[in-house]
Amino acid sequence: MMGRGRFITFEGLDGAGKSTHVEATAERLRAQGREVVVTREPGGTALGEKLRELLLGEPMHLETETLLMFAARREHLAQVIEPALARGAWVVCDRFTDATRAYQGGGRGVDAEKIEVLARWVHPHTQPDLTVLFDLPPTAAMARLANARTLDRFESEKAEFHRRVRESYLALAARDPGRFRVIDAGLNVREIEKLLDNILVSYCF
Ligand code: TMP
Repeated sequence: MMGRGRFITFEGLDGAGKSTHVEATAERLRAQGREVVVTREPGGTALGEKLRELLLGEPMHLETETLLMFAARREHLAQVIEPALARGAWVVCDRFTDATRAYQGGGRGVDAEKIEVLARWVHPHTQPDLTVLFDLPPTAAMARLANARTLDRFESEKAEFHRRVRESYLALAARDPGRFRVIDAGLNVREIEKLLDNILVSYCF
């Protein structure tokens, strides 16, 4: 029987460019003959996409925001992530619980222990095996966003918010170097692809 699949997450500030690399990474893994599921948070299910709309558009209390992130996650795990891993597929997910730690914890100031209680409740047995963090100074990330579409509720936060989110991500990566790989998102697309290839080669043995 096929073993359990692997769970790979991509994280970073808005504007760091990670989403461009999610699909390309999935393609490289598929070329190795694996079944790969690409998904994102908040979202990934019909209910999750509705919650995403609310989360990105609707003003709300910071703990409501945290709870809705985990509500969307619970559904996503049940419908998509856990069944895929159980059948041996690899899951490449654009953001997961580290985003809650960084944005709601670091950015908004939600108590870290409350977030960990929810993480233990919602996914006690499912953690990412590998997390690629796209690191970029907030000024550079925000400059990239300025040329893009209308900004959502997170993207339009002030620079200080993005600075705290970045610091939280870097602290998470420093605490768990076995799981995290940090990429300098200021490099060009080709250089980043090369780094990702190296990460995948060393990861996929
Ligand atoms: P995206 O634009 O990368 O898809 O992410 C949507 C926004 O949601 C992004 O600004 C980060 C935010 N977010 C959180 O604040 N907490 C979370 O747990 C997740 C998954 C995303």
